[in-house]
Amino acid sequence: MKNIILIGYMGCGKSTIGRNLAKISGCKFLDMDRAIEEKAGKSIMQIFEQDGEAAFRDMETAYLQELLTAEKGKIISTGGGIPVREENRRLLKQLGTVIYLKVRPETVYERIKGDKTRPLLQCDNPLVRIQEMLKIREPLYEDCADIIIEADERKQQEISGQIKEDIL
Ligand code: S3P
Repeated sequence: MKNIILIGYMGCGKSTIGRNLAKISGCKFLDMDRAIEEKAGKSIMQIFEQDGEAAFRDMETAYLQELLTAEKGKIISTGGGIPVREENRRLLKQLGTVIYLKVRPETVYERIKGDKTRPLLQCDNPLVRIQEMLKIREPLYEDCADIIIEADERKQQEISGQIKEDIL
């Protein structure tokens, strides 16, 4: 079986849907953000503060390269900024079937307001930041996606069920 890779903006449900999909399909689940935190021995917030965003992006690229040579058949959830680098988009396409969980800015805002673990959204007006970032990122997510799923209204369990039935 190929890998299934979930991409999309922060708060779109990548980790929850990925974990659930792994459970119902019996596949291994891998959350890239958590794996990078473990490797670095610090949280994403600390990586951004101490080493900077570029260092975090390097870690993402290095980890994608590692995954290319690892065992296949995993469900992989990614960090929301992974497709920003052209090289990452190329690596994602090689790694398996890429599913983009598409959500509106308002959905993201409702889900993540008050969250203190996402460095890029610690600002005075997170909704505007989300709108601006999505405008730039949407074409990039779409560029590397094999499949696009609208994930605003539907229950996350239902989406995992659909992926299992239609794609796995
Ligand atoms: C980021 C998304 C985060 C995490 C980091 C940067 C981004 O992952 O990788 O804070 O640039 O959108 P989630 O999408 O899992 O929140």
